[in-house]
Amino acid sequence: MKNIIIFGAPGSGKGTYSDDIVARYDMGHISTGDVLRSEIKNGTELGKIAQGYIDNGQLIPDELMIDILAKTYDALPAGKGVIFDGFPRTITQAEALKKMLADRKHDMGVMLELIVDEETLLARLLNRAKEQGRADDNEETIKKRFEVYHKQTAPLSKWFEQEGIRNAFTWKGSKETMLGEIFAFLDTQK
Ligand code: AP5
Ligand code: MG
Repeated sequence: MKNIIIFGAPGSGKGTYSDDIVARYDMGHISTGDVLRSEIKNGTELGKIAQGYIDNGQLIPDELMIDILAKTYDALPAGKGVIFDGFPRTITQAEALKKMLADRKHDMGVMLELIVDEETLLARLLNRAKEQGRADDNEETIKKRFEVYHKQTAPLSKWFEQEGIRNAFTWKGSKETMLGEIFAFLDTQK
C-alpha cells in the first residue's frame, strides 16, 4: 500500500481507523501522540519536554516533532507503506514531511480527512477518559485541543487539497459505514 496520512480533530478516529487499515493492508503505523506518550511513560528527556505541552493541549514545537518523525519513519521496515496518524499538524510539518519523503524517493500517497461533529468528538473523548484515563482527556484540555486543531491544524486541509491528495470522509453515525467507505477508496489505491 502507498503511504497514508490520516487527518482529523481529536477523537475523530485517527487511531481507531489506523488499526483497521493496518490489519487489512499490512502496513506500518506512526502515531506521534503514541510515540510521545511512550516517551513520557519511560521518563526520557523528550518525554519531560512533551508532557507540559500535552497536558495543556498544545502542540510540541515543530523542529522537535519533525526530528522524531524522521527517526521513527527510518526505523520501520521499508517498502510496506506507512500510516501517519497525528502528523502533520502544521504547514511547517507538512512541508517537512513532503521533503523527508522526497529525499528518500517516497511520496505522501493519500490523505484521509475524517470529518466528525464536535458533540460526537467530545462524547467519545469523555468516554475514553472513563475507560482508559488518558491524561489529556479532561474537558478543559479537550477544549484547548479543539481550539489548537481549529487554529493550527484544520487549515492544512486546504494544503492537502492543493497537493491533490485530500479525500474526505464524513461521520454519519455508523462506524461500519465510515470504515466501508474508507476501505472502498483504499482498495482502489493499492
Ligand atoms: P494525539 O495522540 O494525536 O491526540 P489527538 O489528535 O487529540 O487525537 P486522539 O488520539 O485523541 O483521537 P483520534 O483521532 O486518534 O481518535 P481515536 O481513534 O482515539 O496527540 C496528543 C497530543 O500529542 C497533542 O495534543 C500534542 O500535544 C501532541 N502531538 C501529537 N502529535 C503532534 C504533532 N505532530 N505536532 C505537535 N504535537 C503533537 O478515537 C477516540 C475515541 O473514540 C476512542 O476511544 C474510540 O474507541 C472512540 N470511538 C467511538 N466510536 C468511534 C467511531 N465510530 N470511530 C472512531 N472512534 C470511535
Ligand atoms: Mg489517536
